[in-house]
Amino acid sequence: MRVSVRSSGFVCTLCRSKQSRTVGAQWRRYYSAKESPPKTITIEGRTYPLDSHMNTPPAILANIPRRLHLQKDHPLSITRQIIESRFPDHKRHNALFPVVSVHQNFDSLGFAPDHPGRAPSDTYYINKDTVLRTHTSAHEADTFRANESAGYLISADVYRRDAVDRSHYPVFHQMEGAQTWDRRNFSPYVSLADAIWADVEALPKHDIDVEDPNPTIHPERNPLQRAHHSPEEVEAIAAHLKRSLELVVVEIFTHAQRAAAGTDETASREPLRVRWVEAFFPFTSPSWELEVFWQGDWLEVLGCGVTKQDILIDAGVPERVGWAFGLGLERIAMLLFDIPDIRLFWSKDARFLSQFKEPDGKGEESGMMWDVKRFQSFSKYPAAPRDVAFWLPSTTSPAGGQLPATSGVPRQFHENDVMEVVREVAGSAVEDVRLVDEFVHPKTGRKSLCYRVNYRSLERTFTAEEVNALHEKLRKRLTEDLGVELR
Ligand code: DAH
Repeated sequence: MRVSVRSSGFVCTLCRSKQSRTVGAQWRRYYSAKESPPKTITIEGRTYPLDSHMNTPPAILANIPRRLHLQKDHPLSITRQIIESRFPDHKRHNALFPVVSVHQNFDSLGFAPDHPGRAPSDTYYINKDTVLRTHTSAHEADTFRANESAGYLISADVYRRDAVDRSHYPVFHQMEGAQTWDRRNFSPYVSLADAIWADVEALPKHDIDVEDPNPTIHPERNPLQRAHHSPEEVEAIAAHLKRSLELVVVEIFTHAQRAAAGTDETASREPLRVRWVEAFFPFTSPSWELEVFWQGDWLEVLGCGVTKQDILIDAGVPERVGWAFGLGLERIAMLLFDIPDIRLFWSKDARFLSQFKEPDGKGEESGMMWDVKRFQSFSKYPAAPRDVAFWLPSTTSPAGGQLPATSGVPRQFHENDVMEVVREVAGSAVEDVRLVDEFVHPKTGRKSLCYRVNYRSLERTFTAEEVNALHEKLRKRLTEDLGVELR
């Protein structure tokens, strides 16, 4: 991928070599130093204007060309195909570009103007109107508008500023799916609700134990869209949604149980238990999450609901009604293949990928015949924890600090900024970062934080010198970028 930045007077390429790691700070420096800031950025041939909202480091942009969900034999790609096999008639969209408008990612889905997901502490911005999508739902309205199929699936990379630990990575993959019906195809004699019930009947049955204690519609917690649907229609849509998604879980967990039991056919298999819980998304009502009982815990697998009719109306298909879901592919792939650390998905080490190769070499074509093999862990290399403690910049508020201004407006300190600096300095050399101590000075009211950064390579043993050098660099960058004072 080419990521080039053009200012009025020069062109420089930022995605190469070590230089790219520090550019996040350079963006900030460009503005604070009042140098002429770069005017545009080009990502895979598409050019975007830049402004002071830009907070996306080149190391993040460098992940765009990886497209792990499409890489042959990659566990994310295998997981995608296992789920796709449950929706043979749905149109697939697997190559949608990750740079989207704020309108696509948030406004079109009814996110409130002050929704926390829009904050620059959580979302990677390119400019004030452009972001790296934070979820595949960013393409929902456009896909409804294109109106090419009654059902669709979207699989893609998504980007979020988040914690650093074994189950979070700033880039991950989601699959989104939807199913709609056109009201005009039905008459008062065969109602829409009856027609959807007939579709429910046509779905395969399963025999898993489903807990579903909540009413489909709850006036406060999970309201009916009264202006658009009758209660009978929503009961039918919900039944279709639930059965379809329970079948996804059956598909995945049958593979997972078989893999966990290994070759021992007699190994005892716990019966699969799933439950529906009420949820809230700005773009569905009613909404639910589906959880699966897996190795002793309830695990959230997906979010879903009856699509807000305003989205369909705004997309020019007011006559269509239906449901949609979204799920995270990493979480499912981690349990399916028993992968202990999310960084492994990004490994270019042949020892990782070759494990998942289909023996017949057929890959994608072997369709539903996936033989899921559990990940054979490399030996685990030692962890090297290092602490860093600092005072937040003094502020009138004892509760927090403020970041140096990038555009004249000081920003509140956010933990995700620490995470971002760690990623920029150490990349995947860090397994996790945890806040281990927090303290407010009784006299000055200044706040001090201590983070434990756990350095651990997936591929070899780090020397103490290497870790010390990385940690020293991190300490320096924290002071430069966040204006904190080391203790
Ligand atoms: N976009 C949601 C997320 O990232 C998941 C989701 C929930 C997608 C409900 C949907 C939906 O389409 O209807 O958590």
